[in-house]
Formats: sequence, C-alpha cells, structure tokens
Amino acid sequence: MKAAAKAHTNIALIKYWGKRDEPLILPMNSSLSLTLDGFYTATSVDFRNDLSTDHFYLNEQFVTGAEKNRVTAFLDRIRAAAGKPDAFAEIHSTNHVPTAAGFASSASGFAALAAAAAKAIGLSADEQQLSILTRQGSGSACRSVYGGFVEWEKGTLSDGSDSYAVPVASANYWDIRVAAVILSSAEKKILSREGMRRTVDTSAYYPAWVDSIPNDLAAIKEGIAAKDIEKVGEIAEANCLRMHATTLAANPPFSYWQSTTVSIMQTVQDLRATGVPAFFTIDAGPNVKVLYTPEHEEKVRNMLQNITGVHDVKVSKPGEGVSYI
Ligand code: ADP
Ligand code: DP6
Ligand code: CO
Repeated sequence: MKAAAKAHTNIALIKYWGKRDEPLILPMNSSLSLTLDGFYTATSVDFRNDLSTDHFYLNEQFVTGAEKNRVTAFLDRIRAAAGKPDAFAEIHSTNHVPTAAGFASSASGFAALAAAAAKAIGLSADEQQLSILTRQGSGSACRSVYGGFVEWEKGTLSDGSDSYAVPVASANYWDIRVAAVILSSAEKKILSREGMRRTVDTSAYYPAWVDSIPNDLAAIKEGIAAKDIEKVGEIAEANCLRMHATTLAANPPFSYWQSTTVSIMQTVQDLRATGVPAFFTIDAGPNVKVLYTPEHEEKVRNMLQNITGVHDVKVSKPGEGVSYI
C-alpha cells in the first residue's frame, strides 16, 4: 500500500483563471501550458492500518491546518473512488520548487500526490482518469500529468467527466527555454484559489477575459504547430497581461506584481526591441518567466541577472509528465 511519484510544475501560456464549480474545480476557460523540467515535487504515500487520520509531511515538516486539510480532502476523493473510506496514509512530499510563491507548487504537488496515492491504494487510472482526479486537488495540476505542451479542456458536463488535460506536443518536440526570474520565494498573501474567486465574483473585466480565450487558444496552437516563437510569445504575453488586468478591476482590487516584476517586464520588451525574441508570462505571484529559444540563452540570462531586485535566474527546458519512483 505504498507508492511514490514525481511530477513537474507547468507554466500556463494561456491561463486558467476562474472556476465555474469550486468543489469539483471546473474552470471557466480552457488553458494551455508547458511542463518545466527544472521544478518538481516528489511524493510518497503509504496507506497503513495503524493510522486513524492522515499524516502529511511537506519538506520534512509535519503539516497541520489548511494545507493538511487540502491534502486530506483530496485523499477523501481517492478513498471514495477506491471504495476504501477508512484507509489513512502517511504522506511525505518534497517540493523542489518554492511553495505557494507563484511557481505552481500546487501543480507539481497535486499531480505527484494523485499519482502516488492512486497507485498506493490500488486504484487503476489511465492518464485521462488521473488528470480528472488531479484536477480536483488543484486545477493547474491536471496539466502536469503530461509533459511538453498541454491543453486543459474545460469541458461542459456538470460532473467534470470531460474536464481534463490533453497532450498537445511532447517534451522533445521543440527545444525552447523558460527562465524563471526569482525575486521572491515568500508565500503569496492571496493564494491562487482566493485570487481567482474574488476576480470571478467582482471584476468588471472578468467577462472580457473569458471571451478572449477561444481566439488565444486557437492561435497559440497554430504557433506551436509552426514552432513560431514570435507568435507563441506574443499571445502568451498578451494573455498574461489580460489575466492580471482582471485583478486590478476586482473589488477590493489587488495585484501580484512588485516593482521588480515591472522592471523585468520592461527589460524583456527592451530586449525584444533589439531583435531578441523573448517574451514574459507571470502566474499568481511576483516572479516572471521568460520564454525564448536556446540560441539567445546567454544574452537573455545576462540581461535578467543584472536587474536590481533579481535574486536568481533558473532556466528550464520542456519537462516530462508524471513518473513513478
Ligand atoms: P502555487 O503558485 O505555488 O501553485 P497556490 O496558491 O496555487 O500556489 O497553491 C499553494 C498551495 O498548494 C499550498 O498552500 C499548499 O496547500 C498546496 N501545496 C503546495 N505544494 C504541495 C505539495 N507538495 N503537496 C500538497 N500540497 C501542496
Ligand atoms: C495563475 O491551479 O493554483 O497559475 O485550482 O485553486 O488550486 P486552484 O488554483 P491553481 O491556479 C493557477 C492559476 C495560474 C494560471 C494557470 O496555472 O493556469
Ligand atoms: Co497553484
């Protein structure tokens, strides 16, 4: 009754931002991401007869409170699916990514947890079923089941059975780079879940966000098919700015950006004006990811490292999907 799995984070190029169903985590819009090889979570799950509750350790610390409850609520779904309501587990998870800082730890974290827990409890699930399960832990996590470029189809059914990720292009399809520009690894004040809820409930710009998605998705898939970095980058950057605009129009308004976030965005646009095709995107946090092709590695890295307030630059290639350890 023990298993371990590893999953990478992913960066959304077309963002998931807003739920139509909170408990099932059904999104308002479809989204598209790239799985990253540089950041991952490794999780082991051991269902044991001597336990009467779950024990969750994150980075070797015993966890209680909301983070533990989120894991237990997720395992409740796995227990229900497996028909074993009284199976409790000891879970050890290590994030090779900053937790709750806008680097998608919830994506690698819940994809690894879902895979390990399903295997440990003896629940047979193919990748599509695993993506559906994983989605119910954290929406973005359903995309981390697969490597490379991945689309999360929002689905239309109310039971969520058609809301899952589908692979668009594998990790070795296109050699591109994503630099994670790290200014802060501190936990965000407004978790993704709360930020998108407030936006859906109050932002006057939210309907325009939802309306803009089908065009972005169709166009970025053309860009990926053509390995066209300009097209993919321009769409991703514009989509990111539109998502962050919705938070500014929420009530109360909020933003995930810091002053250094804006400096990095300007540097990337300046770099582009000199002929280097580099594009930024930002998830729910202050840190920036920069997309470019490998021949520009040195120039991009140097420019980013020299920005005041930047602590580190960590470059990823496209990463693989979930694997078992
Ligand atoms: P992020 O940008 O890191 O995805 P979120 O606000 O989406 O931030 O989610 C952060 C939450 O995800 C944490 O507060 C915790 O509840 C959960 N989480 C992060 N890592 C793990 C993990 N390895 N195992 C289980 N849950 C995790
Ligand atoms: C901005 O998947 O972390 O990173 O479903 O509530 O766990 P929950 O939220 P989460 O939201 C991710 C938001 C985003 C965009 C994206 O990854 O698509
Ligand atoms: Co997240």
